[in-house]
Amino acid sequence: MPIETTLVLIKPGGVQRNLIGTIAQRIEQRGLTLSGLKLIKAERATAEEHYAEHRERPFFGSVVDYLTSGPIVAMAVTGENATKAIRTMMGATNPVDAAPGTIRGDFALSIEDNLTHSSSDPEAAARELSLWFPEGTL
Ligand code: CDP
Ligand code: MG
Repeated sequence: MPIETTLVLIKPGGVQRNLIGTIAQRIEQRGLTLSGLKLIKAERATAEEHYAEHRERPFFGSVVDYLTSGPIVAMAVTGENATKAIRTMMGATNPVDAAPGTIRGDFALSIEDNLTHSSSDPEAAARELSLWFPEGTL
């Protein structure tokens, strides 16, 4: 089983709704380990780079506005198949499609405020970790 490190962001809505502890607890309970953790206000340029794959999509401006609208938490998460395990744990992008038991399925209702970002695959994880943790992870 490959040991991977992936990126999770708790978006501004999750921080405002005091869900940092709940989300971190679920990740830790699953057996995954935090290898980086910080509360930050994202720079616009960082958010634009983060969502670069969506630059031509109609929602690009609004997702960048949203990600930079308040404090966020950046987490590096390490463990067996961490990338896929975290994506499954967070649930479908649109919370109305997310299964109960997932973070989005339990705590979110709208796609604009779906609480978390998680890397889609190991290549995205490597790119995003270098963007949000340029100092490196533990
Ligand atoms: O976050 P995830 O990887 O599940 O979804 P994505 O397709 O990479 O889209 C990135 C983010 O853009 C989503 O998490 C939504 O917050 C937002 N989005 C949106 O507002 N409207 C859409 N039609 C698609 C995505
Ligand atoms: Mg994505």
